[in-house]
Amino acid sequence: MKKKIFINQTLNTFKRKSIEVDGDKSLSIRFVLLSSISKGKCTADNILISEDVKSAINIIKELGVKVILKNKYCEVFGKGLFGFKFKKNLILDAGNSGTTARLLFPLLNNSNNWIKITGDQSLKKRDMSRITKPLGLFGFKFKNNEKKLPIFLKGPKLLKSCNYFEKLGSAQCKSAIMFAALKAKGTTKIKCLPSRNHTELMFKNAIKIPIKISKKKKYEFIELNGLKELKPFNYKIPGDISSASFFIVLTLLSKNSQLIIKNVNINPSRIGIIKILNMMGSKIKFINKRIYKGESISDIYIKSNRNLNAIKPNSKINSSAIDEFLLIFLVASVCKGISIFKNLGELNKKESKRLDWGIKILKMIGIKVKKIKNDGIKIWGNPGFKLKNKYIIKEYLKDHRIFMVSTIAALSFGGDWKIYDPTSFKTSFPNFLRILKSLGANIK
Ligand code: S3P
Repeated sequence: MKKKIFINQTLNTFKRKSIEVDGDKSLSIRFVLLSSISKGKCTADNILISEDVKSAINIIKELGVKVILKNKYCEVFGKGLFGFKFKKNLILDAGNSGTTARLLFPLLNNSNNWIKITGDQSLKKRDMSRITKPLGLFGFKFKNNEKKLPIFLKGPKLLKSCNYFEKLGSAQCKSAIMFAALKAKGTTKIKCLPSRNHTELMFKNAIKIPIKISKKKKYEFIELNGLKELKPFNYKIPGDISSASFFIVLTLLSKNSQLIIKNVNINPSRIGIIKILNMMGSKIKFINKRIYKGESISDIYIKSNRNLNAIKPNSKINSSAIDEFLLIFLVASVCKGISIFKNLGELNKKESKRLDWGIKILKMIGIKVKKIKNDGIKIWGNPGFKLKNKYIIKEYLKDHRIFMVSTIAALSFGGDWKIYDPTSFKTSFPNFLRILKSLGANIK
């Protein structure tokens, strides 16, 4: 596998009219982990076969669960709520995947021995106390350290239900609590700030778990009871809006193109980027909208438009665009006026410190940008922005989104780019380069 790619040509007019992106990562990981604890055979169509999902699959296999993968079709023979086989000195490696690690913890009760959870260099830097804290209330124990991987844990067969106030607006944290609640005695009540709601929808509409969900002012409330068993379920995974976003921005910033991205999950808790780009003036449209097991699916229509205006959005929108901010910063760089995005502290807790790297990369390519109040960014847009010089993007903790956003910057703004590390995008979007090339991108 190559160590870097080279781009020295922009992509202005596309060869194809429509594309499909890979399956949704959040839904694929949730499917793998939930099917492993259901009682019987579960199937998923169009599952994402990326490194993060493979980490989740390898982990459930280590726990004694049979998995059959045929292209993008996956069969999982769930062991039931309390059926995992825990080997002695078990080590489970979540690789680069924060979602896999955080959603795995609550599944690992009922073992007599300590289980070690670990991950790669980037995952070892990320905070796990956001889930070990609530999981401690359910009865989980942690040896020595409960903040950073590797972490050793064990938990009793029957967990204690609890009431928890989730203040970070983290879907991973909310989902870890919901997974633990399935094995707890009695009712678990969660009060939380809004975040992506795939776990709620999968519980309610795919697995038919009784769950109460309500909203009051800025909070969401979830109530669910422990179960005896989890019914097996089937799922068809739609395209990932986070992956589609690279092509949305590429089209928007190109000179003379139109694109339809088919079959994308447009769950309202995920479409912050579309709302932000449309506030800037992009006129992105949803066509052929439908509902599948509670999730909204649509084709997305987009055409070139560099006539965009700077915005200062309310930070309530942040959680619904959390993985797309690097792309949003790129578009803000060519808007007319000054854009300001606030309260982005969570961005620095991702696979790399994305707020800080975003600022460094924009500065490197000559955009006027400033970090404000330690967790915000101010970008002075330049509508006629073009690049001529040489640029090198290193492997910043092998962050897949930094690699992909740099590729889009190179294809949109010009210049002579060397971008490391082309293996990183396989974490979330293995067909990224293939689709770009099929549109006509010249990438070596
Ligand atoms: C995810 C939630 C988000 C997101 C991540 C995937 C999920 O993190 O950044 O890529 O699948 O639940 P938060 O837990 O911070 O919301």
